[in-house]
Amino acid sequence: MNTNYQLPENMVNILEENKNNPDSFVELIRDGGYVPPNMDLLVDAISALSMGKNILLKGPTGAGKTKFAETLSHLFNQPMFSVNCSVDLDAESLLGFKTLTYEEEKQVIEFIPGPVIHAMKHGNFLYIDEVNMAKPETLPLINGVLDYRRTITNPFTNEIVTAEGGFNVIAAINEGYVGTVPLNEALKNRFVVIEVPYIEGEQLKNLIQTNTKLADEATIDLFVKLSSDLINAVSQGKLSEDAASIRALLDACDLAVLIPSKRAIQRSIIDKLDEEREREFIKNLTETLF
Ligand SMILES: Nc1ncnc2c1ncn2[C@@H]1O[C@H](COP(=O)(O)OP(=O)(O)O)[C@@H](O)[C@H]1O
Ligand SMILES: [Mg+2]
Repeated sequence: MNTNYQLPENMVNILEENKNNPDSFVELIRDGGYVPPNMDLLVDAISALSMGKNILLKGPTGAGKTKFAETLSHLFNQPMFSVNCSVDLDAESLLGFKTLTYEEEKQVIEFIPGPVIHAMKHGNFLYIDEVNMAKPETLPLINGVLDYRRTITNPFTNEIVTAEGGFNVIAAINEGYVGTVPLNEALKNRFVVIEVPYIEGEQLKNLIQTNTKLADEATIDLFVKLSSDLINAVSQGKLSEDAASIRALLDACDLAVLIPSKRAIQRSIIDKLDEEREREFIKNLTETLF
């Protein structure tokens, strides 16, 4: 077991001490950018990573999973290498590939490390995004990396690679998203699950104020209300999940600085939806709010 996990300034204690003080808590993560919906989420993720456990961020699209992973790697002072899963993901895109180069005019075969090997050798963070988009046979290639052995035999070079201290794995999953398959049990087994919900209310308001150009407070309040209505409608099955994405909401807020809010919402949220019924639903919602 790799025990070289050093938290900057004993992060877990700092977080515990600040648990009930939202201001210092915001201060703490400001640089990373992720606004956690509650303190437990952050403490649990940091605790798991500091013990060398893999974490699986599970939540809807645009909930800030990638942002959260970036913030965590920032807190641990570790660069992050990313893998984006898709049906095309294969051993080469995970581990690396061989190529021909010249060394003093002699042709040699060189191995170019992929994100997994690179993160292992440098003791960095590895982020595996949309982990359930990968073909079922692909990710088992790195099972050894994900368990306590933290070791893989590189099939391209036959080298046995063991991760350096500081290496950590964060994966993200968008459960229920079209085109995904349920995550394989053996894989799920290797992770601690952290649910990442959308932020709402005051937190969302702060995020809009810091991350978009929209400054008018009354309008921001309306967008916060719109977001909570969209989240509710999604949870009741009236809208598909994408409709509540915070990414789309932030786009709408930015656009609303220059064009009318209703049109900004049309472009950023409504027109992305396939079903007429859903589009009508949000249009009506927007009409009553704005
Ligand atoms: N809780 C949050 N804190 C900070 N930014 C957030 C949060 N939720 C959403 N965002 C913003 O919304 C956008 C989408 O976030 P992202 O991390 O890409 O979502 P996901 O990976 O879950 O699809 C980004 O611009 C991100 O900064
Ligand atoms: Mg993402």
